[in-house]
Amino acid sequence: MLTPLYDTIGKGYAHYRRPDRRIAAAIETALGDATSVVNVGAGSYEPRERDVTAVEPSATMIAQRPPEAARAVQASASSLPFPDKSFDAAMALLTVHHWPDIRAGLREMVRVARKRVVIFTWEVPKTPFWLTRDYFPEILGYDRRQFSPAPLRDVLGRFETGVVPIPHDCSDGFLCAYWKRPGMYLDPGARAAISSFARLGDVSATLACLKRDLDDGSWARRNAELLDRHEMDYGYRLVIAES
Ligand SMILES: C[S@@+](CC[C@H](N)C(=O)[O-])C[C@H]1O[C@@H](n2cnc3c(N)ncnc32)[C@H](O)[C@@H]1O
Repeated sequence: MLTPLYDTIGKGYAHYRRPDRRIAAAIETALGDATSVVNVGAGSYEPRERDVTAVEPSATMIAQRPPEAARAVQASASSLPFPDKSFDAAMALLTVHHWPDIRAGLREMVRVARKRVVIFTWEVPKTPFWLTRDYFPEILGYDRRQFSPAPLRDVLGRFETGVVPIPHDCSDGFLCAYWKRPGMYLDPGARAAISSFARLGDVSATLACLKRDLDDGSWARRNAELLDRHEMDYGYRLVIAES
């Protein structure tokens, strides 16, 4: 099934969702000795030094791929158009929660990967994120369901999980990326590149509260412990399952 979501919300993706070099390094390490890689739910973080094939359902996302990027096949994770064991590694980065049938997509990754499956995902963090704690708790409610670890356990069986700390100047504008740059959430372009906002209705009243709190200093007082931090663990994880 092809999803139209990123045909709508993906328009400014390449501008706001630039790969972060520290996260890219962690993904490179996770891929290990894989020479050929299928990137399911394509976008950023495609290694240049490996033989990459991208799989992406959204024409808008495919159109934003730089000219030098690897070939992209328009397809869904649920039905990868490749024979068994076609690639050393299958990777899926911040995409699994969008799949209509997560278990089917994970089974497909296991089927086409000879050596390992690498997934960049999220789990409910021990440290609450101020944006979802104080302004948009409805995002957290949805994400708790969508990012359930159950499908990973059911399909991958045993896997390693590594913490991916989010740097204060993260260049990939996903939900928690602007944890120390709160004014960025007032930027409509930044919000448009974060799928969690696409599910919300009119957010103008809540954004007005955030703006007021930034202007009068109450955000800074409430989040004073963040101000001297350089990175935070907000639940982003790299999952590595060896075949
Ligand atoms: C948040 S973006 C992440 C893109 C990329 N992995 C990255 O890290 O920049 C989510 C991606 O998942 C893709 N996606 C949505 N449904 C999908 C499906 N059923 N199969 C494969 N990819 C899907 C979207 O089109 C979008 O490109």
